[in-house]
Amino acid sequence: MTDSSLDPIAALKSDHAAVRTVLNNLDGYLKKISLVSSAGLRNNLINQLNEITAFIDKDLEMHFKKEENALFPVLGSHIGTETGPVHVMLIEHAQSRELSLEFKSKIKKYRDSGDYNSIVNIGYAFVKLLSEHIDKEEQILFNIADIQLSKEEKHGIMENFLIITSQTV
Ligand SMILES: [Fe+2]
Ligand SMILES: [Fe+2]
Repeated sequence: MTDSSLDPIAALKSDHAAVRTVLNNLDGYLKKISLVSSAGLRNNLINQLNEITAFIDKDLEMHFKKEENALFPVLGSHIGTETGPVHVMLIEHAQSRELSLEFKSKIKKYRDSGDYNSIVNIGYAFVKLLSEHIDKEEQILFNIADIQLSKEEKHGIMENFLIITSQTV
């Protein structure tokens, strides 16, 4: 097994495992929010989404930064960033950030609007986008990276990960 403290691809995969767990939890909350019949219970469930949006803002953002500022530039020097898989991944990061802003805004407005359907719909769209994004990275991009990147490049990316994670967001 590859050591995630030495190999950048293994490190990103270990981030993905944490993201998948949160997406699973989010999916569970969304189901309950749409099914529950009591407004009080629904309010409680919606309040608990704050923990998930905090993860998205902090941990997911950190993961995106590792990819955007460390992996993608080096991988891009091999396969380009204007078109192809790196380009697509960057577009999906932007879409994920947009959905997360919308999601947080709907949660904030819920107290006045009572509109939980928008929270549920945007939440599901976020889960779908990010699950598919992670699958694509693991099935396509990371395999390309494993083949293209030299040992030295991987080492350099790993060092940049450490710099990125030591910086507070
Ligand atoms: Fe990504
Ligand atoms: Fe990723």
